[in-house]
Amino acid sequence: MKINKRSIVKTYLFAGLLIGFALTPWTASFADEGDDSDAPMYIMNDKGQVDFGTYNGYRRFNGECNRCHGFDGEGGFAPSLVESLKVISYDDFVDIVVNGRVQGTAVMPPFGQNADIMEYLDDIYQYLKARADGVLGHGRPKKVPKTLD
Ligand code: HEC
Repeated sequence: MKINKRSIVKTYLFAGLLIGFALTPWTASFADEGDDSDAPMYIMNDKGQVDFGTYNGYRRFNGECNRCHGFDGEGGFAPSLVESLKVISYDDFVDIVVNGRVQGTAVMPPFGQNADIMEYLDDIYQYLKARADGVLGHGRPKKVPKTLD
């Protein structure tokens, strides 16, 4: 078989591109470590009303996570997330909820396959972050009323 230089170059170029693609997310997640600038943030106005995402996070949290983490994240059989979110990063939060975690007999189930949680994960984070920062107390938060625009 005659070796065609051009096709070798093309093959290398293609392989290079593939490797490039494969490495990109890696380098990105490396650079992100410990950096919480991409974390979603709750918004609260001067009337103490929160954005809809944060309000929705309260509902989602108390629809699923509360059975172990207690109402409003106060802790129960599983750790208080009001305390946890003072310490753990957004990336850690996402990683633990998606993949779950087991330490001895303490089992945090993975929610990566649960669309009802995955779709609203940022909302849940925002709600818990507002609780951890002490700007939201117990109970249903007040939300910004819908505007006609
Ligand atoms: C079946 C009980 C259960 C449910 C439901 C559950 N968790 Fe957990 N979760 C746990 C346990 C137990 C741990 C502690 C695991 C460990 O020690 O590693 C934990 C740990 C965590 C942590 C890490 C806390 C830390 O300080 O390291 C986060 C974050 C978390 N859960 C978020 C959630 C969210 C968000 C939901 C709802 C989508 C949820 N969990 C639902 C049992 C549960």
